[in-house]
Amino acid sequence: MADKTAQIIYGPENKAINFPVYDATLGSEVVDITGLAKSAGIFTYDPGFMSTAACESKITYIDGEKGVLLYRGYPIQQLAAESDFLEVCYLLLQGELPNIAQKEQFAKIINNHTMVHEQIRSFFNGFRRDAHPMAIMLGVVGALSAFYHDSLDIKNPEHREVAAFRLIAKMPTIAAMCYKYSIGQPFVFPQNNLGYADNFLRMMFSVPTEDYESNAVLAKALDRIFILHADHEQNASTSTVRLAGSTGANPFACIAAGIAALWGPAHGGANEACLNMLEEIATPDNIPRYIARAKDPDDSFRLMGFGHRVYKNFDPRAMVMRETCHEVLENLKIHDSPLFRVALELEKIALEDDYFVSRKLYPNVDFYSGITLRALGIPKNMFTVIFALARTVGWISQWNEMISDPNRRIGRPRQLYLGPTRRDFVPMAKR
Ligand code: SDX
Repeated sequence: MADKTAQIIYGPENKAINFPVYDATLGSEVVDITGLAKSAGIFTYDPGFMSTAACESKITYIDGEKGVLLYRGYPIQQLAAESDFLEVCYLLLQGELPNIAQKEQFAKIINNHTMVHEQIRSFFNGFRRDAHPMAIMLGVVGALSAFYHDSLDIKNPEHREVAAFRLIAKMPTIAAMCYKYSIGQPFVFPQNNLGYADNFLRMMFSVPTEDYESNAVLAKALDRIFILHADHEQNASTSTVRLAGSTGANPFACIAAGIAALWGPAHGGANEACLNMLEEIATPDNIPRYIARAKDPDDSFRLMGFGHRVYKNFDPRAMVMRETCHEVLENLKIHDSPLFRVALELEKIALEDDYFVSRKLYPNVDFYSGITLRALGIPKNMFTVIFALARTVGWISQWNEMISDPNRRIGRPRQLYLGPTRRDFVPMAKR
């Protein structure tokens, strides 16, 4: 129970209304204003949710001032260096790191669900070959609801678990199918003796006419990119999944809603937008012109890959991403990549410019991911698909946490109404 309160003094009689304040394990306390509308007849107003906690959660914690990101208490830097993506999936879903037996059992279960129903393949034929892969992924993931009637009873923990396993297992297969369809090559079946990231790269790049050779360094780099993107507390797409889930919609429909929200260039679409921007800048001597545009209040141009709602310091993922980017470029002997040079120079100049420093605009996870993914041979229009693939475990873990909360209620925000007051209908003859 709360032993602290916050008080609102409101109305002509200066009525004092007290609200409970709850402590957090880490980060900000919260004022519970659930009873505000009833006790004072007023709403809070917080478009963009700058100061609003929409839920309680035990999964991920971000300290924006210190540049800290913890998955179930473990720092992202340690997980990126010591763990692998399937182990992080287990951690996010179950709350603890697996022991050897648990990890092997989890990997085996995921491997049993990597194939998609053969009928799913015919969905792809309805799309044009030049459809954006995010549009295809959105449609196909939503359609999974039509195939898995045995795991749609969201009140049943086993059904929720099977749906989570299916989504984590099938996202790489669906993502690779989106790519293969767009280039007119045959779909490649998953090969379950390969690791998660390696299996995905093989489904993306192998062809039936030749043997496929894995590259352990590139597979490890991609696995690390998946870890960095796995979860990020109540970001826009996760909040979308939670809101859709609060209505009782099935998990596949909720994840499709998350994919739709992630697509925006202000969110998960920033990695594709960032690479487009770096390619447009092309050489370091063009940087000042783009910095000037980013600072111009009359120009809608923003530096893609810079800034964050929560991080007012370096995004810790961006630091790991920069290192990974360098490793991949070294391994592929393209360390003098002009794009990487432009990115390093842009980061240096921006971080010395008062406009960015005063607004605490630092590179975020998307700043280096695009260069790395492109170096791995992944086309730009697949970058957000990769982000969605990795974020699925975060979305489904947050969805499961919400659905298993016995006090769950449908999310239904109110508004500040500024429209016309009541008026009578005007017949056409009098308009
Ligand atoms: C992700 O929420 C998450 O956790 C998301 C994510 C996740 O893992 O789920 O971390 C993934 O979405 C990362 C962010 C990717 N987006 C981009 O890189 C797009 C570029 N960034 C901006 O669009 C922006 O920084 C946002 C959307 C990320 C944050 O927007 P906010 O918090 O609403 O900040 P704001 O728009 O109010 O900006 C504050 C000021 C403004 O200037 P002033 O009005 O004070 O003069 O900073 C300026 C903005 O104009 N600003 C920028 C800028 N970002 C903010 N100016 C130039 N370039 C930028 N990138």
